[in-house]
Amino acid sequence: MKAPHFPNLPLYQGWGRPMRVESSVDSLVLLDGTPPEGLNGSWYKVGPDRQYPPRHGDDVFIDGEGMAHVFHFDRGTVSYRSRWIRNARFLAQEKAGRSLFGEYRNPFDKDPSARDISGGTANTNAVLCGDQILILKEDDLPYAVHPKTLETIGRFDYGGKVKAQRLSAHPKIDPVADSVLNYGNQAKGDGTLDMAFYEFDQEGNIRDEIWFDAPFAGHVHDFCFTKNYVVFAFHPLVTDLETVKRTGFFFQWRPQHGMKIAVLKRRGTAADIRWFDGPPVSFGHTVNAFEEGSTLCFDLLMSQSNVFSFHFTAEDGKRSMPDPQKLRRIKIDLAGNGATYQITPEIGPICELARIDDRYLGYPYRYIWTLFGGPPSSPEAGAAQGAMAGVTGGGTDGFIDIFNGEADVGSIDRHTGAIDKYSFGPRTNVHESQFVPRTPDSPEGDGWLLTIVNRLEEHRSELAIFDALKLSAGPLALYDIGVRVRSTFHGNWVPEETFRTHRYAMSRKVSVSGV
Ligand SMILES: [Fe+2]
Repeated sequence: MKAPHFPNLPLYQGWGRPMRVESSVDSLVLLDGTPPEGLNGSWYKVGPDRQYPPRHGDDVFIDGEGMAHVFHFDRGTVSYRSRWIRNARFLAQEKAGRSLFGEYRNPFDKDPSARDISGGTANTNAVLCGDQILILKEDDLPYAVHPKTLETIGRFDYGGKVKAQRLSAHPKIDPVADSVLNYGNQAKGDGTLDMAFYEFDQEGNIRDEIWFDAPFAGHVHDFCFTKNYVVFAFHPLVTDLETVKRTGFFFQWRPQHGMKIAVLKRRGTAADIRWFDGPPVSFGHTVNAFEEGSTLCFDLLMSQSNVFSFHFTAEDGKRSMPDPQKLRRIKIDLAGNGATYQITPEIGPICELARIDDRYLGYPYRYIWTLFGGPPSSPEAGAAQGAMAGVTGGGTDGFIDIFNGEADVGSIDRHTGAIDKYSFGPRTNVHESQFVPRTPDSPEGDGWLLTIVNRLEEHRSELAIFDALKLSAGPLALYDIGVRVRSTFHGNWVPEETFRTHRYAMSRKVSVSGV
C-alpha cells in the first residue's frame, strides 16, 4: 500500500487541504462573551473530506467522503466530535487503501472491484429520525449514526418501506403536521426519470408517497413545501448517461429545457400535479415556500444562468463564472389556468446556504439567515476565492467559495428589507448557520444563531453564538474549537428534550398565522 499523496491543485490546498482526522474535544475553551442559558441540545453538521487522493487528480469540491460533526451544548459547556461515516464506499476504500470511485457520481468511473458498491458519500446533511441521526447524500439512502458518539450504525431503508434507491439530502420538517418530507430524485437509479415523494412521521413511518416522472433526469438538490402543496423545480442541469460516459461529467447544462416547476398536492396523486414553465435559470438551494391566498410563493437562491458552470458546463465544455446567486421569489398563480410562473426581482447581496426559523417552514415567514459574499478584502483574497472550483474572483462575481472565499454571517428581514451582518474580518468565512428558538413558543427570530467561523490563514475554527436578531452586535459567546473544521454543507439542531421525546416540542406550540 502506497502512502497517500494529493495532487498539487487548489482543490486540496488552503482550507481545502484534506483533514482525514476524527476529533474529540471536551469543554471547548471560551474565548469571549457569556454563553446563553437555555441553549441545551446538539448541533449536527456534515461535510466532505478526502479519505484518499482522487483516482484522476481533478474533481469537484462537493465530492469527498462524509465527515459528521456534532457540538453538544450543556449549560454553557460545549463538546465537539467529528467522525467519518463508515458507509459501503468508505469501508471498501479503507480495505483497498485507495480511492475506488473517480469523477463525481460517474457510475462508469469506478474501480472494477467496486462495481456493485454505491458511490454515495454521506456528506451533505444530518436530521433526527426516531432515536438516531440520519446522514444524507442525494445519491444513496441515509446512513444512521449514534446521536452522541456519531458511530455509524448502518444504511437506513426505513424498515424496507422506502422503495426509492436514494433520498435527497434536504429533508424538511413540517412543524404543523409534525412530519418529515423528503424525496428521491433519479429514484430508480442514475439517469432515471423517477421521482418519489415521501412524507414520514418523526419515527420514519410513511404517511404519504407519490411517484411521478420528471421532465428530464437532472439535478434536483432541494425542494419546498406549503400547507397543501410540494414544489419541485427542475432546472436544466441534465443527467444523460451517454453524455456521462462520453464526457465524464454527471450533469450537463441544457438551457433549451428552461426550468419546469411541478406543484404536487399533498395527499394527492401524480394525476393532480400541475406543471409550470419558465426561463433557464438555476439554483442550488431553496429558502421556503408558503401559500398567500391562491398564490404559491417559492423563495430560493437563484442565478439567472448556470450556477454550476464552474464544473458542470454546457455542451461546449467551457467553464465560466455564473450570474450571481441571490434571493428571489417565484410566484405561481394556482387559481388560473396558466402554465407559467413569475420571477420577482432579486433582494440583497450574493448569498448561499440560507436558513430560516424552522418553525415557519411551509408558512409565511420573515427572517432569513445566510452567508453573504462581497468584494474581497485584498487582491490576494480575491485570487484565493474560487480556487477550489478552478476559477478566480468567485466572491465578487458568481458564487461564494465556501472553502477559500471570504463570507460574512448575515440576515435579511423580508418584511422591511433590512440587512444585518457581522464580519469576522479579512480571510474568514462561516459555515451554514443554525437558528435555535429561545423557547419552543418564542416569536419568530427570537433566539440564537450558531455558526462555525473559519480563520483561513490561521487554519483554525471557532464556534460563535449570536443573538439571531442582533448579528451586527457581534457574538454573545465565542469558543475555540481547538481544531480546523473543514467546510461543511448542512446540518440541524436537536433540542435536549427531543432526544427523550423524539419530537420537536416547538412543532406543537408554535402559532402560525393562517393555520
Ligand atoms: Fe445542499
